Amino acid sequence: MPVILKENNVFILETKNTHYVLGVDKNGYNRHIHWGEKCDINDYTIDYFGDENSNHTLLDEMKQEFTVFGSTMYRECALKAEFPDGCREISLKYDGCESDENNLSLKFSDRAYPLELTLNYRLYDGFDIIARWITLKNTGKHPICFEKIACAEFTFPGVKPYTFANTNGAWGAEFTQAQALVDGGRAVFESRGGGSSHNNTPQFIAYKNADEKSGEVFFASLAYSGNFKITASRDLYSVTRAVIGLNDFDFEYALSGGEIFESPKVYFGRADGFGNMSRQMNDFAVAHILPKRFADKPLPVLFNAWEAVGFNVNCENQKALASLAADMGVELFVMDDGWFGQRSSDWAALGDWYVNKEKFPNGLGELIDTVNDLGMDFGIWVEPEMVNANSDLFRAHPDWAYHYNTRQASELRHQLVLNMTLPEVQEYVFAIIDDLLTNNNIKYIKWDFNRPFSETGAQNLKNPKMLWYLHIKAVYDIVDRLKEKHPDVAFESCASGGGRADLGALSHFDQVWTSDNTDAVDRMVIQKGYSMLRPIKAMRAWVTDINWYSKPAPLSFRFNIAMQGALGIGGNLTEYSNRDLKICREYIALYKEIRPIVQFGDLYRILNIDDDEVLMNHYVSKDKTKSVAFIASDGTRLFKKRIPLRFEGLDKDRRYTFEFDGKTYEKSGAYLAEVGIPAHIRGAYYNKIIIIEEKKER
Ligand code: DGJ
Repeated sequence: MPVILKENNVFILETKNTHYVLGVDKNGYNRHIHWGEKCDINDYTIDYFGDENSNHTLLDEMKQEFTVFGSTMYRECALKAEFPDGCREISLKYDGCESDENNLSLKFSDRAYPLELTLNYRLYDGFDIIARWITLKNTGKHPICFEKIACAEFTFPGVKPYTFANTNGAWGAEFTQAQALVDGGRAVFESRGGGSSHNNTPQFIAYKNADEKSGEVFFASLAYSGNFKITASRDLYSVTRAVIGLNDFDFEYALSGGEIFESPKVYFGRADGFGNMSRQMNDFAVAHILPKRFADKPLPVLFNAWEAVGFNVNCENQKALASLAADMGVELFVMDDGWFGQRSSDWAALGDWYVNKEKFPNGLGELIDTVNDLGMDFGIWVEPEMVNANSDLFRAHPDWAYHYNTRQASELRHQLVLNMTLPEVQEYVFAIIDDLLTNNNIKYIKWDFNRPFSETGAQNLKNPKMLWYLHIKAVYDIVDRLKEKHPDVAFESCASGGGRADLGALSHFDQVWTSDNTDAVDRMVIQKGYSMLRPIKAMRAWVTDINWYSKPAPLSFRFNIAMQGALGIGGNLTEYSNRDLKICREYIALYKEIRPIVQFGDLYRILNIDDDEVLMNHYVSKDKTKSVAFIASDGTRLFKKRIPLRFEGLDKDRRYTFEFDGKTYEKSGAYLAEVGIPAHIRGAYYNKIIIIEEKKER
């Protein structure tokens, strides 16, 4: 995967199937040259041209790799700074590059001020995905104040407009896909509430004519869990660009003398079709993004008691649930909200991370021992960045929450956000979780974050608008420190469901909570959106008793959907019949059998519920010897749908065998992909799981 340096400062980043080409021109401008299929490397050159006229300038037109604000450049910039003397323009000169087989760094510095900018790129063997990020260094003594810091800028090939796919989600409707055709002006996708949010997503998927199987797709995902902004635009020369990075809304970053700022990374690539894109990013995230300790390990089947008992946890009801969960094959028992302080509803006790003695008279030990004796690991819920006004912590430290003395604090979910930029708050948060993990046999932390920020006063900061960035940095740092000290503990990022389920969270946490909406019908849409640019194995999916319609779908339907990620159980098992418990037992056993394929295989999205009335996802093992297809439909109209099921992703030259609808099939991979088998999908809650195996020659 070489970085190729050509003469005249042209740099070719060669991945498995693509070239990403950039350069530095003789005037010191960083220039974008190509992103797409490989060409003859001798052909790549930098073009020179002048201003079109006094209203359309060279700088505005130029395809740059990373555009700084200044001079006659008026479009969206990637970097804007104010120097101590009040100058608000950056003017860069090129200082040279550093490179090796997989890395390239281009170094620039301001012509008049002590600022260095480095554009960094990293290639990964076997992938068409590249990481890029920037480094800023203040080589002077006085702070340089940044008004905007993007992490990357992209220029897209060709002149026709691109469609940018993002999400337009909400709590309970995370990852709901949305598209914007950008043929002029700008489309902005962003978050402003402190987290990466349930609404838009810090990623883009840009295409003209593409579907699951074909068409050129350009994608990028920002590894950052805070306020982000993506601005996609198309200019009067028909050039499409996208700038992606930290949101400049209420933003400031004062870079002190001598300080180095390394931006979050953007992972980007090119693919043929959305399916290929998702499979690339899935494998890439497992290999290079998820924290190493658990990345290549299958995630356990967990039970979480939140849907079963809400805040009414106590030692007895948790033990009862644990016993039933263990009996059905659950491997990890997670106690959710309600175990601490005076917590009986969301009105109180966030911040008081000591065990509630009425609920747990003998401390956590009795429950944890029971869970361990039942053969399961124990996990626990915390929401460490928050505090209720009605808590001992807030009474002792009212100044620890973001606030303005002159403004009424908005208590969303009756809680306030702790000022994580305060060193004493960081130490407090580290200490409470460190104590929990040191004193108890806890193997799993579910780290929640249930409201956006408001009244964001941070009197400790000279530049309070830095709090958005510093807050997220503090969270990452604390999680990393905890993981270093407690390496056997897995962490889950939860934010009222999937409000912080981005690649930044997944660089520090081992998995994410996908959505509080566990309704299996709605999950068909949510999980599809999730799967576009995130790793399947990190997607927690529970079977619960939630129903938004009339009654919960049959257990078989709920399992069908939840088994397509990292399976969890969340229903009130004490109310399950023996028959239901047996069904759970059987499905969990089946899940354990197919888990390596679901969590580490290749996903082919064959039918989707919105367009086809039927969901069909086919997960294929890497060696293509085994696969599992999930087919589900909450209801087909007119009571009939006779369709061929086609199984993409198998080896076309091998033969496979499986059972379906009482019939045994033996077919080639080619036949299964091209012709398929007949299925009669009808009625409410149709669901099937087909396990396909290579037919071994005797
Ligand atoms: C929101 C989470 O998404 C839920 O799973 C649960 O943990 C609740 N918070 C607890 O308050």
